[in-house]
Amino acid sequence: MLGHDGPVSEAFDAVDVIAAKRDRGELPDPQIDWVIDAYTRGVVAEEQMAALAMAIYLNGMTPREIARWCDAMIRSGERLDFSGLSRPTSDKHSTGGVGDKITLPLAPIVAACGVAVPQLSGRGLGHTGGTLDKLEAIPGWRADLDNDAMMRQLDDVGAVICAAGTGLAPADKKLYALRDVTATVSCVPLIATSIMSKKIAEGTGSLVLDVKVGSGAFMKDLDQARELATTMVRLGADAGVPTVALLTNMQTPLGLTAGNALEVRESVEVLAGGGPPDVVELTLALAREMVAGAGRHDIDPAEVLADGRAMDVWKRMIRAQGGDPDAPLPVARHQQQVLAPTDGVLASLDALAVGVAAWRLGAGRARKEDPVQAGAGVELHAKPGGAVRRGDPLMTLHTDTPERFDRALEALESGYSIAPAGATADLLPLIIERVG
Ligand code: URA
Repeated sequence: MLGHDGPVSEAFDAVDVIAAKRDRGELPDPQIDWVIDAYTRGVVAEEQMAALAMAIYLNGMTPREIARWCDAMIRSGERLDFSGLSRPTSDKHSTGGVGDKITLPLAPIVAACGVAVPQLSGRGLGHTGGTLDKLEAIPGWRADLDNDAMMRQLDDVGAVICAAGTGLAPADKKLYALRDVTATVSCVPLIATSIMSKKIAEGTGSLVLDVKVGSGAFMKDLDQARELATTMVRLGADAGVPTVALLTNMQTPLGLTAGNALEVRESVEVLAGGGPPDVVELTLALAREMVAGAGRHDIDPAEVLADGRAMDVWKRMIRAQGGDPDAPLPVARHQQQVLAPTDGVLASLDALAVGVAAWRLGAGRARKEDPVQAGAGVELHAKPGGAVRRGDPLMTLHTDTPERFDRALEALESGYSIAPAGATADLLPLIIERVG
């Protein structure tokens, strides 16, 4: 006899699993294990997983189901093991935002504190940039390392930022691509298990999450972001990986740049002791959490930033992956300024508008096979709360392809507001809350 999905040797029938979730049932552990494994093997069809993802999207999952789903996704692939390293490991994951270049200064700062940082990152899709796209703006730098090279670099330099191999959580790779085309991305159980399965499989000893809240983030409101953070912190604890989360403001871009080479330049400014105050503050807050999570309570990340040790690690980290940290960064061939139309105070500057503008200028991609322009993006000359005068530049747009300026300007049209001088901007704190 054949079931809906093949020979009788399969333990369950995908249709029964979908129907159970459709009818608000709770899936038992063996069914969850089976459906993830069978989907990875191609036995559960894409359309069946799409239906199940929608049922989960509409009806949710219990904490037990979430924990088991995450564990089954981890078990769908390899799990790296850094226990042979001479130092503890810690990693950071950000849910993604505009101008979020924090990984670049953070990894060398934490490594300079004696904690190894295995950062497996991705390329960007849509309006938030990917860490690998930013680093690829550095002449010669390569994202692809095999596991042995990664381990050697972690031992030697203490930090590695590279592309995640295909062996980690392959179930998530398939499922995330499917969710993207079936309107099932924005679902807390599915996002939490997707992120945490990859981070736990990556083998880090402890984890710090930067959960962004606001227009430029996945999570537009605080309650949703808090629920996501709490769910991920619990998954980390269940898997024996101490995890904390910071909920941070993504109503306005981080720092003064959005775009690949522009963000590398700003990160190097931070490592040289300068850089925008918000980037420095968030980098150090996350570094303190990572260092503490790895049990190093004896060292202050601000010290290794101030005395140049973090910059030394940065240069070694870039060289170890073929890059030249001293080479000039690419500059876009064309620039256009956006001028303040009136005197006053910059009351708001919307992260999503700036992210979409940077993307349209060529800094991001619409499809995963698209190339990105290293020099493209938006440079900000004012931040919310700052005084502006009529005719002053508010932003400079950068691109190699000037026909893109009009569409970028369209995105920015209602993306900022100027209030009369003396007015105060309504600002959320940069670090809103800690969960863990
Ligand atoms: N990032 C991920 O890795 N997975 C999600 O589901 C959402 C964001």
